[in-house]
Amino acid sequence: MDLTERPRRLRRTPAIRRLVRETRLAAADLILPVFVREGAIAPNPIGSMPGVVQHTRDSLRQAVTEAAEAGVGAVMIFGVPEVRDACGDVAIAPDNILAQAVRWVKDTTGDDLPVIADLCLDEFTTHGHCGVLDRQGRVDNDATLAVYKQMGLVLADAGSDILGLSGMMDGQVAAVREALDAAGWTDTALLAYAAKYASAMYGPFREAVESQLQGDRKSYQQDPGNAVEALREVRLDVAEGADIVMVKPALPYLDIIARVSDEVDVPVAAYVVSGEFSMIEAAAAAGMIDRDRAIHEVLTSVKRAGAGVIATYWATEVARSLR
Ligand code: PBG
Repeated sequence: MDLTERPRRLRRTPAIRRLVRETRLAAADLILPVFVREGAIAPNPIGSMPGVVQHTRDSLRQAVTEAAEAGVGAVMIFGVPEVRDACGDVAIAPDNILAQAVRWVKDTTGDDLPVIADLCLDEFTTHGHCGVLDRQGRVDNDATLAVYKQMGLVLADAGSDILGLSGMMDGQVAAVREALDAAGWTDTALLAYAAKYASAMYGPFREAVESQLQGDRKSYQQDPGNAVEALREVRLDVAEGADIVMVKPALPYLDIIARVSDEVDVPVAAYVVSGEFSMIEAAAAAGMIDRDRAIHEVLTSVKRAGAGVIATYWATEVARSLR
């Protein structure tokens, strides 16, 4: 054979493969999502998410200490309150569980571990929707923005470095940016869940936050068949002042991640969501796949597609393995 091109030459040894590897995960790329349960007296395992818990104050402090030591890039906090109502009033109470958790984490890891607070109403409403409802029971976009503004001020005041806008209301980035700036919080950054799909992959998360949702979120989250619409959502969020844009879920939407990262000049994040996590954990527990290899392959693929920042429940474990 007279072959001039032999790509296998560069695959011969582990060291050669390492030399020419195009995509490398780094601990600093990873965001660790955590759940904090008001009133919990012990960490509460989440049945559908092996190894993930609803934290108490103390177990949260330990988890973020370990994340920071492992070099994880940031922590993203979701609060699970004891009391909910139709309007999500607790979400704008200055001492709510999420604001408290932000303070506990900032007290523990300071500026070593940026804190992202989830700015959304779904954990705080009795109906489980991401916004407030009008008289017909529809999610009321503009009434929700007024609540998001107040929630943004509460979370900024608690010390959040970044607010994660996950509700998919139109105009949410502009509304929260304006409220923050007017109150002097010009340095609080906004991570916009710009292209968030109405996905079946959020199932285990709903257990994690004890979601009360009846029905679905299809009137505000995106249709899985749409890609051009994702580019529109991203363009709007960047124009409204988003500092980071996120695509969610990750693995079923690698094409969206790639197109978004071609389009924007802000950092692109992707969220490997609860269902993506649980599928791999379940398959590995059943002996069907090699767990560690599958995790590394998935996260590498998400990065290769164009996400420089990746939210994953495996963040601390993977960060340690990269050391
Ligand atoms: C809602 C929110 C959801 C997730 C993060 N923020 C659930 C939803 O939209 O129903 C899902 C994250 C995951 O599944 O890991 N604010």
